[in-house]
Amino acid sequence: MSQEELKQFNSLNLADSTPMNQSIDSKSESLLSEKTAIQPSNQLESGLLGWYATCSSRAVKRDELYLFSMYNEPLILYRDKDLNVKCIKDMCPHRGASFTGGQIKEGELICPYHGARFSSKGECTNLDRITCSHIVDTNYDNYAKKIHLSQYPCIEKNGYIYIYYTGKAKTNLSDFEINYPLENSLAESYGFKISEYEYEEVTVDFKADWARIIENHLDILHIFWVHGDTIPDKDVSRNIITSFNQAITREARQIQSKYNHKDKSKGEFITIKFIPPGRVIIYKGEEESSRYVQVLDHIPLAENRARVIVRHYRRFMKNKLLTNLILFKNLQHRVFYKVFSEDYMILKTQSFNQQMGYIEKDNVKLLGEDKMVQYYWDWLQNALIKDRPWELHPTNAHTNTVHKDMEMLYPPENPKLAKSNQRAIAMKLVIRLIVPLGLLLLIL
Ligand code: FES
Ligand SMILES: [Fe+2]
Repeated sequence: MSQEELKQFNSLNLADSTPMNQSIDSKSESLLSEKTAIQPSNQLESGLLGWYATCSSRAVKRDELYLFSMYNEPLILYRDKDLNVKCIKDMCPHRGASFTGGQIKEGELICPYHGARFSSKGECTNLDRITCSHIVDTNYDNYAKKIHLSQYPCIEKNGYIYIYYTGKAKTNLSDFEINYPLENSLAESYGFKISEYEYEEVTVDFKADWARIIENHLDILHIFWVHGDTIPDKDVSRNIITSFNQAITREARQIQSKYNHKDKSKGEFITIKFIPPGRVIIYKGEEESSRYVQVLDHIPLAENRARVIVRHYRRFMKNKLLTNLILFKNLQHRVFYKVFSEDYMILKTQSFNQQMGYIEKDNVKLLGEDKMVQYYWDWLQNALIKDRPWELHPTNAHTNTVHKDMEMLYPPENPKLAKSNQRAIAMKLVIRLIVPLGLLLLIL
């Protein structure tokens, strides 16, 4: 978000808006006001700098580079000799080349320009430092020991690669001061028994404002209208737009909103948690026993470009043979891609309207159900002022867009994966028909 947009958001006095439907239950509201008396606008401890889930473990393959960026800063993930993941700034310290086109050999990163080879062991005894162990000109053998890669702390956990992003990569990992523990981001820390679930996952890229995508995932009402025809749930339909009683809590680690149907016999609809800076968890029932948990991670690649990892954890359909047979994974992916295309249709142009300054105070009319969105924007305003992440690696009209052009890997921006998923469904269906038919013919 640019400074201009930030000013606009600061000028939005959200509390002034007249909710059409004030549905926060009064008990939660009074609890909320007690808490807010101490710190009115932001209970959440962490800001925009901190732990981000940046990709799935599966995306970082042995001997391959995984290129991405955070807040405009090009970065690389790769696996070292022991298969530990490293996150480095995509710039060779020799003469500043990108590692695009470089290679990994025996866990060592090799620059494509002059062949500098980097190892976290090599001649450097400090494992927190990735140093050059070889460079072409042997007259400079000491030089090799003096050049180091800049990197960020990186942890692989539960099939995610997390990095601690500060905007200032350092040559030595032990020089980082970790202000927020990774545990704050983990679903297990909130009571979810993640090891008991199977999951499906897709990654999608949006040419849209990162913060707007999170807002979309905290927005309960759009689910009915935008995704009513796609989500396979009879209660989610354009024809049954309903309003909810909300119970919102704001704590140091999360904002949580539980949406209960107004018709008490129907009980809870869903609960949404926002865990800063980029995680949203959606589920129903108690954390320990929820049948279905959706975890969404938002990665701010660059201005107007963001990546989302969505993972659906389920306690049912855990038999791999059966799920394979009925194409469960492909069919799930088809729903994911469709849902994200629907969101993208809204988000890309909404981001444009925001950047053009068209979204003014009078265009923002919050409903009762938007209270979560309001609290989220409260946090965001504070965090943008405190951390200013977009000012750490600013680009301008003259900046080469080479990284941005390479980055949009996943649908909906690049629909290739969605199409190949469709083809896989068609192929597998044909095979599933041919095999029994063939057997039948043999028997006859
Ligand atoms: S720029 Fe990387 S080896 Fe020269
Ligand atoms: Fe959506």
